[in-house]
Amino acid sequence: MKKVGLVGWRGMVGSVLMQRMVEEGDFAHIDPVYFSTSAAGGKAPVFGGKEASLPLQDASNIDALKACEIIITCQGGDYTKEVFAKLRAAGWNGHWIDAASSLRMADDAVIILDPVNMHVIKDALAKGGKNWIGGNCTVSLMLMGLGGLFQNDLIEWATSMTYQAASGAGAQNMRELISQMGVIHDSVKDLLADPASAILDIDRKVAETIRSDGFPKKNFRNTPLAGSLIPWIDVPYENGQSKEEWKGGAECNKILGKPAFRTAGSIPIDGLCVRIGAMRCHSQALTIKLKKDVPLDEISDMLAKANPWAKVVPNDREISERELTPAAVTGTLTVPVGRLHKMAMGPEYLAAFTCGDQLLWGAAEPLRRMLRILLE
Ligand code: HSE
Repeated sequence: MKKVGLVGWRGMVGSVLMQRMVEEGDFAHIDPVYFSTSAAGGKAPVFGGKEASLPLQDASNIDALKACEIIITCQGGDYTKEVFAKLRAAGWNGHWIDAASSLRMADDAVIILDPVNMHVIKDALAKGGKNWIGGNCTVSLMLMGLGGLFQNDLIEWATSMTYQAASGAGAQNMRELISQMGVIHDSVKDLLADPASAILDIDRKVAETIRSDGFPKKNFRNTPLAGSLIPWIDVPYENGQSKEEWKGGAECNKILGKPAFRTAGSIPIDGLCVRIGAMRCHSQALTIKLKKDVPLDEISDMLAKANPWAKVVPNDREISERELTPAAVTGTLTVPVGRLHKMAMGPEYLAAFTCGDQLLWGAAEPLRRMLRILLE
């Protein structure tokens, strides 16, 4: 049985990964070695009923890491930057599966999303590829939902306008969002309880509260999210884009095995990324320029057949309100795609809306599936 090193299993993405590995029985196929950045020597956890043969190992100990044939890390980009190059320089030739973005665009790395790019993964494996990196959550979720149109090479260009959940910013941000909601409620509790109170008084108090210095907003760079939104995600990048927006084009083309973003033969993908007050589901509204006029029923058919998780939601108000929302999708692997209709600009212009759990398909799930591919 292969020795599989697990790093960052205690964090948010790591915990979701452990949960999914338990659910899918992955631990029955591996000899797990748990690494820790702070508690080396301590007792290793037991997941899936599998006792680890070693106590917690030191996550910065290159010799201990070298003993693993496969390493999966959810420890974050700083850890990858600190350890990966040293490990390879020390002659380690194992498979590195990583949730962090640091290695994503490297030539010898594949961005893994096997329901969409199994051909790219298999090609790389055949050529001796060893570096398997999970994609940006928004990009992976767009490709899971819209995979059918990409597979059929029908997209001339697309814009994605996103509605990204607090979890993408981190666990502390999720907590802060809920605290913000609580503080807002507390500030108008008495007025809410009085049916005769004026809504504009309530609104004024809410506005004062979210703008006040005491409002809990440290993790969101001093900007309120509850009762508001944040129209910028990640650092400024190039051409007026944020880095999150740049990833949409850059990673999508790489995942699909296309030429590099902004070069001939790549698909132009661009848009604005916005943080909203959802917990862990990212949504996105797409405008897609098709290469030709394809009837809507054929489009729905392609999307539904592309993978078992994409679910076409009819463009109907009640069904969309019920099924195409973060509240409906959270904690599930289903990626609904709906609001499908041809736009006023012409029959080649398609509107779509999709939503997915950014901790599952957006982070943990592609990693554990890559592990299973390597174990086949
Ligand atoms: N960068 C994403 C976000 C999450 O901020 O929502 C990680 O892919």
